[in-house]
Amino acid sequence: MKIIIINGPNLNLLGKREPTIYGSETFEDYLMELKARFPEIELTYFQSNIEGELIDKIHETGFEYDGIILNAAAYTHTSVGIGDAVKGVSTPVVEVHISNVYERESFRHTSYIAPNVKGIVAGFGMQSYALAIRSFLD
Ligand code: DQA
Repeated sequence: MKIIIINGPNLNLLGKREPTIYGSETFEDYLMELKARFPEIELTYFQSNIEGELIDKIHETGFEYDGIILNAAAYTHTSVGIGDAVKGVSTPVVEVHISNVYERESFRHTSYIAPNVKGIVAGFGMQSYALAIRSFLD
């Protein structure tokens, strides 16, 4: 099974960025844990701060992979383009957030991605990604 994790803007700073909200682990370290935990999955990772690059990666993988785990970060709340990309591909997408966006500022309560995803996992810290992977296995 081929799954890609796509992370959006500022998530390259995980480990350094607002650790009280996002924790102190880098994504690269967490990815190694995920790969060890799910050895049966071919897990790829992509991160970009650029909206168009995220859209390109959704197009590139969205007819080939078995699952996309997408944390579009701030673009979740603003990007019609990413929402349309998710709608346009056939691979199921799970929306992920490290924090519980619904207990935060009201602008984080809107998602342009949510209407077209298989499901949403939010608020479990980095574990949100592991739970999203599990959703493809069960
Ligand atoms: C986030 C939540 C977003 O509101 C925020 O802009 C992020 C990260 C999360 O994983 O909790 O950058 O997607």
